Amino acid sequence: MKGSNDYILWVDNVIKTFEGIHALEHVSFGVKKGHIKALIGPNGAGKTTMLNAISGLLPPDSGSVYLNNQQIAGLTPDRIALLGLSRTFQLVRLFTINNATVLDNVLLGAHKHLNPSIFEAMFYRGRMKRKENEAKERALNLLKFVGLEGAEDALPGTLSFGNQRLLELARSLMTEPKLLLLDEPASGLNDAEVESFIKLLLAIRDKGITILIVEHNMKVVMKIADDIIVLDFGKKLAEGTPEEISKNQQVVEAYLGTQKNSCKVEK
Ligand SMILES: Nc1ncnc2c1ncn2[C@@H]1O[C@H](COP(=O)(O)OP(=O)(O)OP(=O)(O)O)[C@@H](O)[C@H]1O
Ligand SMILES: [Mg+2]
Repeated sequence: MKGSNDYILWVDNVIKTFEGIHALEHVSFGVKKGHIKALIGPNGAGKTTMLNAISGLLPPDSGSVYLNNQQIAGLTPDRIALLGLSRTFQLVRLFTINNATVLDNVLLGAHKHLNPSIFEAMFYRGRMKRKENEAKERALNLLKFVGLEGAEDALPGTLSFGNQRLLELARSLMTEPKLLLLDEPASGLNDAEVESFIKLLLAIRDKGITILIVEHNMKVVMKIADDIIVLDFGKKLAEGTPEEISKNQQVVEAYLGTQKNSCKVEK
């Protein structure tokens, strides 16, 4: 429950409206430390809006968001990132200007650790250099961890779609998050890629990083989620373990049942 140290994230009564569209209506839920929580629901249910509200990109109209019991609703995304939250996007966002390489993209995740104060930059050049080298080593290790070893000098645009998603994930991990928000990270992956992606997510959780994942691929959700929240038309429809959710009649009708016939448009 709210205020408990067991929860890294607590979303309380969040409302978000876009010009008359009730994207989120009084949504509350918690994410337990060390868990993988899945956020599912049909297209337009409000999943991305919820991640935007949590990460500060589009703050909620009202309601509270607590990260480690600290209210973060209304803080800037940068400030929230410094408190230990990192995210990936439904549409991969990579840097390609100035021929930025794969390694450059991961290193960009380190800027909060590298950003020198003017004082540091003037008087501790040696120390900054050492920090840069450490960051580079960490970035290379992360590329290896996500399965992109050897791709460090490539341009991100030359990577397959699946690998671009892995690169974005490596960049997120570079910030050393305590909580990672992922928006449909498995979309566009082939079956083999999905299998190794499942292993990767479990390995991230085993590092002690809590994950809130928006995902349409039910195979991924059912295999990795400790618990699930279901949104429908901006409202919480259900919350529970994968077993409970797969047996919930309302969920089956609103979402899981229709999946057989629906053809999800990949974005
Ligand atoms: N920036 C925005 N401006 C206006 N309307 C928005 C904005 N973002 C989301 N919406 C609307 O809010 C509702 C919820 O959208 P959201 O993107 O959160 O859904 P979603 O569950 O992530 O869907 P999908 O599975 O298609 O990604 C939709 O009706 C959408 O059109
Ligand atoms: Mg979305």
